[in-house]
Amino acid sequence: MILVAGSANLDFVVQADHIPAPGETVLGREFKTFPGGKGANQAVACAKAGGMVTHMLLALGNDDFATPLESSLRGAGVQMHIVREPDHATGTAFICVSDSGENAITVAPGANACLRPVHLPPLDGFSHLLLQLETPLDTVCAYARAARKAGVVVVLNAAPSQVLAPELLSLVDILIVNEGELAVVSQCQGSVAECLERLQVPTVVVTLGESGCCARQQGVLHLQAAFAISPVDSTGAGDTFCGALSAALSLGHGMADALRYACAAGALACTRLGAQSSIPEATDVASLLVQQTDNNTPSRLAALRALCGLN
Ligand code: RIB
Repeated sequence: MILVAGSANLDFVVQADHIPAPGETVLGREFKTFPGGKGANQAVACAKAGGMVTHMLLALGNDDFATPLESSLRGAGVQMHIVREPDHATGTAFICVSDSGENAITVAPGANACLRPVHLPPLDGFSHLLLQLETPLDTVCAYARAARKAGVVVVLNAAPSQVLAPELLSLVDILIVNEGELAVVSQCQGSVAECLERLQVPTVVVTLGESGCCARQQGVLHLQAAFAISPVDSTGAGDTFCGALSAALSLGHGMADALRYACAAGALACTRLGAQSSIPEATDVASLLVQQTDNNTPSRLAALRALCGLN
């Protein structure tokens, strides 16, 4: 059983042919709202794509924006522990999605900023605690400390990127980052391999977008090539990866299989618009794994090795 503690945002999304540069105005197309927030996306991914019994601790305002977030989590079967903050708005995110599927996101944290150490529920029965950085850092640190004390595996997705206190890093069992976040957390401008060497965390997983992902677990390196898809919107793909990976690991899968599963789930999340609306069912992930059994070709793995600076 997994506990996700983190953010929930209502995403305000507009598609445009490109993301505006500073000072630029672009004419977009239709506007839509979707349930989002890194924490809630990861909880839905754990439950829906990962098939894992999932609980989520989240803070919401007493407003209309909270309703679709609660419905989405409930619909995915996530057991919610809601901290209601009547004096704060539910978190929101303003997202522009380009025609190539890339995005730019600005978050207004609202109630997410009110999550405090005292709100953590009892950890009995949980195998993993999954955290992100859209809630206050001291709260994240306190939750990690409590989980370590209770023997619960601490998984941290260090997004949005920020420099982390050594104490927090020392409490993390599995760190999940993209390339940019890896550079910030490791304070290293070198290759992925060089940045990984700077981190003492037992397991570090690095997502590499359309190239795939890699992981260093207790000194052993794993590489996984990406699955071929036609991207529509990458929002929530990283969160889907984090939720699916945590679920697979807590189900007892080894790192190589868990990476493969999470990569497939993350790829499918890029094929639909929105964050939680794009998270696949476990059966869809299984189908993609069957359709693309041979994607770890020697040439793709060689390209991944080169990208990571492993040659
Ligand atoms: O990772 C994607 C998420 O980041 C969006 O759903 C948005 O709410 C922000 O939290």
